Amino acid sequence: MPSVYIKTYGCQMNERDSEAVAAQLVSKGYTLAKSETTADVVLLNTCSVRDMAEQKALNKMENLIGAARKKRPNVIFGFMGCMAQSRGKQLVDQLPDLDLVIGTQKFHRAAEYLDELLAGKRDKIVDVEEEKGSEATIREHLLSGAKASKAVSAFVSIMQGCNQYCTFCIVPYTRGEERSRTIEDVVVECQQLVAGGVKEITLLGQIVTSYGKRDIKVKDGKSAFVQLIEAVHEINGLERIRFTSPHPKGYGDDLVEAFGRLPKLCESAHLPLQSGSDRLLKLMHRGYTRERFITIIKQLRQSQPKIAVTTDIIVGFPGETEADFEETMSLCREVQFDNAYIFKYSQRKDTPAAEMPDQIPQELIEDRHLRLLTAVNEIAATRYDAFIGKTTEILVEGPSKKNPARMTGRTRCNRIVLFDGNSRHSGQLMDVKIERTGSFTLYGDPAILNLD
Ligand code: 5AD
Repeated sequence: MPSVYIKTYGCQMNERDSEAVAAQLVSKGYTLAKSETTADVVLLNTCSVRDMAEQKALNKMENLIGAARKKRPNVIFGFMGCMAQSRGKQLVDQLPDLDLVIGTQKFHRAAEYLDELLAGKRDKIVDVEEEKGSEATIREHLLSGAKASKAVSAFVSIMQGCNQYCTFCIVPYTRGEERSRTIEDVVVECQQLVAGGVKEITLLGQIVTSYGKRDIKVKDGKSAFVQLIEAVHEINGLERIRFTSPHPKGYGDDLVEAFGRLPKLCESAHLPLQSGSDRLLKLMHRGYTRERFITIIKQLRQSQPKIAVTTDIIVGFPGETEADFEETMSLCREVQFDNAYIFKYSQRKDTPAAEMPDQIPQELIEDRHLRLLTAVNEIAATRYDAFIGKTTEILVEGPSKKNPARMTGRTRCNRIVLFDGNSRHSGQLMDVKIERTGSFTLYGDPAILNLD
């Protein structure tokens, strides 16, 4: 059977989509190739959030096609995901050797389309149509096979799309309208994963805090999303629940309170700030003020004192003045994020912000990026250092990719811990004593080996 290689760009949702496609292909008899240079089929799952991500995937595809043309002309090349969705047929016009373009509502058709291409029934396939019910089609996992047999942590897609329409963001156009799976459907998938050995589940969606808004009624003051977390929480054998990506306005009292009440819900909350300036927040169409944002974080820390708070920030949004930027800096100093991802504003076609006046020159974006990055990293480092000498629970994921002699795991507040262990620690929940910190990494010593 043909072998397939899938390379993924971008977010965890994309990682999950790729896994579902891989699982689907494996179930149809395809094998997973070790390298892109030996595969019969190469699929790039793409990201459109910033221009750089699109350029990377385009360059990669050009190089792959160029290299294969002489030696292996029958290789099938395809784009999937967000850039496939937003550019569609244009990609085939630009790269005539491209065979397949699969949009964000069509991942489940990958096997069928590849079969047709490989059998020579069709020459090229571009499918970026909408499909009703596609939100429930990302459900297959790689539960068997060498790589997957040790999976302790799994991603589960609970919804697709976003209706927030932040003015800088392309996601509503690439992922479509919000569509949610039912609670029962998600729970069944989680139960199966836990039965297969999974101990940690991350609930995924482009705006998970809007889960089920249209279809599931608020019950006892609890939103659909909190009802879903509670239902997943009931699963015996599941140890940890996470979710991404949320919107700050989704941290209502019910979710804030859940962090203090539900022991499996990990002490880690991501709240994408984007800007600390009320003026820019409004232009961005974020739906909260600086004050409201700070209040949510105070409430979260009250509800769950151990919570780690992370964020995303964009510098150089159109019209950003030095005073606006200073508001972002001061908010970061006040809130003290455990980690912050700083993005340089990237103009996205057809988004409202792309047409706004006062686009910021690149040098100024670079300058603000460096200043903010330096400030937030300094704060984050002090919060990492605070772990030194403390004992903390980690879930061991396996050997570290960079140095396989070391094992890697995660704390409940989502920090990576490296320690000298061996493969029998894989999949275990265990305590480690943190001895030192590195760049966004903790180094631990297995304090008590509480192996089952
Ligand atoms: N330019 C720069 N960063 C962006 N993000 C989303 N759209 C853009 C854009 N046009 C960032 C936001 C979001 C993260 C996933 O990517 O900070 O939270």
